[in-house]
Amino acid sequence: MRKIVFDTDPGHDDIMAILTALAHSDELELFGFATVAGNQTLDKVTNNILKVEEYLKINYPVYKGLDRPLVKQPQPQPAAHGESGMDGPVLADPEKKAEPISAIDFYCELLKNNDKVTIIALAPLTNLGVLLRDHPEVKEHIEEIVLMGGALNGGNINKYAEFNIWHDPEAAKIVFDSGVPVTMAPLEVCYAGGILLKETERFEEGGYVSSLVWDLFDFYCEYARKRNWDKTAVFDLIPVLYLLKPEIFTCKEGKIDVILDGEDTQGQTLFEEGEGNHKVLLDTDREACMKIFFEAIDSLDQKYR
Ligand code: RIB
Ligand code: CA
Repeated sequence: MRKIVFDTDPGHDDIMAILTALAHSDELELFGFATVAGNQTLDKVTNNILKVEEYLKINYPVYKGLDRPLVKQPQPQPAAHGESGMDGPVLADPEKKAEPISAIDFYCELLKNNDKVTIIALAPLTNLGVLLRDHPEVKEHIEEIVLMGGALNGGNINKYAEFNIWHDPEAAKIVFDSGVPVTMAPLEVCYAGGILLKETERFEEGGYVSSLVWDLFDFYCEYARKRNWDKTAVFDLIPVLYLLKPEIFTCKEGKIDVILDGEDTQGQTLFEEGEGNHKVLLDTDREACMKIFFEAIDSLDQKYR
């Protein structure tokens, strides 16, 4: 059983990743959610995970993390995820609140009492940068950070960078330089493992959880529809699929560096194959990815009604 925490800014694709992990609670033991400013403000993304918890009637602790990057200003992305950060589903305002301690205190406490915790990071790396900078003693208790972020050939926010790394490059650099093993799912493997727009139609006729997924895709796919794409990446899903079935991924080991400045290059990730404790996912079997995802949502339809 792998112990996991999500570091997240939900986010349509963050929620798809979380749902897939919930469907595999026999393999992934979830300790909670740490939220961070990214796709939208800290308050909005925290509200989104609380709403989804109440919709599913689940009760994992939610801890608020940092509300801005280490150096830059926060730069929400309403074009990708809407004003709420998770436009599409109409969910009740949550009664549940975030826990009274910060995400950083949560990590310190959890890692003091547990070994081999895997952190699945689906957002800018601000929380983890602060944690590893200010509390280096926790490093040995982290088995691995598996993150969605970075790009090898071209960016989605400037010429070369991916959003999560670009939003807080200083924090990302701390994480990559920390000595903690990091597996990075860059844009390219997320594109390779994407969903066909026509495949999302399966959720329209599904059960209670499918209906949430359908509403998420309805907004999320708009970006692809406008560009006449027949497929879209479900970025944050990829790290979870990798943890569940690493054999459907090809990867290389080496060292990743982060560029901190330059209009085209801020947030760029440079990968050098060879010595190092970083791993980059390069390619995957798209149909195998979708099989895991579809089966996960089907099983949640049976569980949560
Ligand atoms: O670049 C993709 C990342 O940015 C994902 O984590 C997605 O949720 C968006 O916020
Ligand atoms: Ca995200």
